[in-house]
Amino acid sequence: MIGLFPVQLALALGLLLAAGAAAAEPASLAGFLRQAEGIDDWLMSTRRTLHAYPELLFEEHNTSATIRRTLDELGIPYKFPVARTGLVATLGSGQPVVALRADMDALPILEEGDAPFASTKPGVMHACGHDAHMAMLLGAARLLKGMEAQLKGTVRLLFQPAEEGGAGGDLMVKEGALEGVKAAFGMHVWPTLPSGTVASRAGTIMAGATQFQATMRGRGGHAAMPHLTSDPVVAAAAGVGALQALVARETSPFDSAVVSVTRLQASDAFNVIPDQVKLGGTVRANSDEGMSRLRRRVEEALAGVAAAHGCTVEVDWMQDKLPYYPPTQNDPHAYKFAMDVASRLVPSPAQVAEAEASMAGEDFSFIGRAVPSAFIFLGIRNETLGSVHGLHTPRFTLDEGVLKLGAALHTALASEYLEQWHVRHGSGSNGAGDGAVAREEL
Ligand SMILES: *[C@@H]1O[C@H](CO)[C@@H](O)[C@H](O)[C@H]1NC(C)=O
Ligand SMILES: *[C@@H]1O[C@H](CO)[C@@H](O)[C@H](O)[C@H]1NC(C)=O
Ligand SMILES: [Zn+2]
Ligand SMILES: [Zn+2]
Repeated sequence: MIGLFPVQLALALGLLLAAGAAAAEPASLAGFLRQAEGIDDWLMSTRRTLHAYPELLFEEHNTSATIRRTLDELGIPYKFPVARTGLVATLGSGQPVVALRADMDALPILEEGDAPFASTKPGVMHACGHDAHMAMLLGAARLLKGMEAQLKGTVRLLFQPAEEGGAGGDLMVKEGALEGVKAAFGMHVWPTLPSGTVASRAGTIMAGATQFQATMRGRGGHAAMPHLTSDPVVAAAAGVGALQALVARETSPFDSAVVSVTRLQASDAFNVIPDQVKLGGTVRANSDEGMSRLRRRVEEALAGVAAAHGCTVEVDWMQDKLPYYPPTQNDPHAYKFAMDVASRLVPSPAQVAEAEASMAGEDFSFIGRAVPSAFIFLGIRNETLGSVHGLHTPRFTLDEGVLKLGAALHTALASEYLEQWHVRHGSGSNGAGDGAVAREEL
């Protein structure tokens, strides 16, 4: 049997090569990159302005005003407000409608470093690159405006608030930002990938995430007389240990999940056993099923441990404060389409890669639930420039040379999507190839 493999492999390769040779060379999209290079200075100064005036979730009033002013200058109409501080701009007209998304909020972090455009607000910082996301989408707005007459449909630009815990993406969807939209694309700058890399993956690219706070209640008393108490500290400590088994012993090694306890609050005194202990943390998984199983098991494990120690426990999932983010799942066709567009855009095929999934949460997931979509990582790691620090850290910086690639990719995704949609839906276009069948669903 083993001896057959090389023959089969050679046959398969031969067929692949023949198919490749027969197919027409797909048109290059490098023109979009050249156009974006032409507005590189503008992209950079737009990003720097946004970076200098960061605002926290649902407080993006000035950020939103800056975006609206820029759209006004470009002559692009928009609807405001959507999801409180967000807005939706429109280019082109008619069917189909494709959406591009950027997030607007910053983080409660004190910026370190001495960039001339550093945050002017102590304790607030664009440490997740959302300033770059907005600049890239505004860049796409500018390029798409220049070719609006040739657009074969409508491009909707979503500027959404409150990605960092406020589920602004969910609110955008609920307020109708995706009505009539056939497909959506979003990007995130990614400091573990080399500058200029475009990476994504089919299926789950970012985890579902939820936060919890549990209150372990017992009977407090003098620390010298523990036999007269039901000690919630010992119960909580056992609870922390029990939670570790949910991933280590109950989750398939082929699945990804995280349970981290990050907060523990007991008594302030050295000689008092408190009545209650609070423990909190985060639960993450790469599927909806994984998330609901873990949530149920966190409650069961803590309740069992509490009972064993003569205590009771209450688990609060804090939906009003820190809403649940579902896993970000890329539609396989949208993913394939995005990677095809990216490889026709970038100068070197090595720049397009399959991404490793991340256990961070992302509220683009709400958009991905509503319409077929793809979320794409854009590498910004550049040792020369020092853009090597992680997202959500005070020294985070990015390689601004990537802004033009992001703007060009947004532009190419939108205009190619509209083009290909008409090819698929126009007369005499029902091609029999695999690609045509696969793309039919996008
Ligand atoms: C709002 O942003 C603009 C830049 O677009 C800046 O000039 C202005 O000072 C900011 N205002 C406040 C109150 O931060
Ligand atoms: C890093 O930045 C430098 C300076 O802008 C640039 O010359 C170089 O090409 C960048 N490296 C990568 C991998 O993009
Ligand atoms: Zn973030
Ligand atoms: Zn982010």
